[in-house]
Amino acid sequence: MSQEVKAALLALKEWGIEGPFDYGLVLGTGLGPVADLVHDPLIVPYAHIPGFPKGQVSGHSARVIAGTIGKARVFVMQGRAHYYEHGDAAIMRTPIETMAPLGIKTLILTNAAGSLLEEVPPGSLSLLADHINLSGVNPLIGVSDDSRFVPMVYAYDPALRTSLKQAALASGVALNEGVYHWFPGPSFETPAEIRASKMLGATLVGMSTVPEVILARRIGLRVAAISMVTNYGAGLFGGAPSHSETKSVAAEAGEKMKTLLAAWFSN
Ligand code: HPA
Repeated sequence: MSQEVKAALLALKEWGIEGPFDYGLVLGTGLGPVADLVHDPLIVPYAHIPGFPKGQVSGHSARVIAGTIGKARVFVMQGRAHYYEHGDAAIMRTPIETMAPLGIKTLILTNAAGSLLEEVPPGSLSLLADHINLSGVNPLIGVSDDSRFVPMVYAYDPALRTSLKQAALASGVALNEGVYHWFPGPSFETPAEIRASKMLGATLVGMSTVPEVILARRIGLRVAAISMVTNYGAGLFGGAPSHSETKSVAAEAGEKMKTLLAAWFSN
């Protein structure tokens, strides 16, 4: 266990947060209200946890909320750090690696994303079945042992995807499934990049999640990721993404994510 993870565990313990937890959950832009599902929450700002992201992005909280949803004990990160903030793709490494010694084996990631499919409009939810990262950036660059060669075939756990689809059906929330193309940001994509992305087989674009998936798979966590579509990709179907649009649509559509996750966690 790294010194950073040890320090983070110690700080969490001082705030009353100790394992075992069943699930880790990362809430992306505009999805902070999903944390309202957590009962008996213990809340710690990241600023008090060594190795957790410092600094703020508009539309993001920055705190851990630990408690229960249904029968599950959950460790929720309300807000994440992105590659584009620091130029460090491993910015989420300590938080993710802190989850394993807290007993967490399953990590659910959420984000706001652009859609490349007309039939998946703003306000929809889409499960990630896979991703594309042709950026040249990877959070494991510089790791010097063989753990860096992470297999990515079942990166998005098939059984978790099935159970999330079942929860979606049961709760009446439409849930698409697609391929997320990671762009490092922070500028949005050009229309030409979006057209290229579509040709490559992507159905979603976004600036988060992928580094976290890689970091989590390296330590053997089972991962699922769900996008909330806030806009169409630049130039598609009138799409002209902006951060204010992302935040305002996310605030509305976040209710669907909440319904889906409430159904899934209480299963
Ligand atoms: N592109 C990249 N990231 C995003 C988008 C987008 O269109 N929408 C929300 N996050």
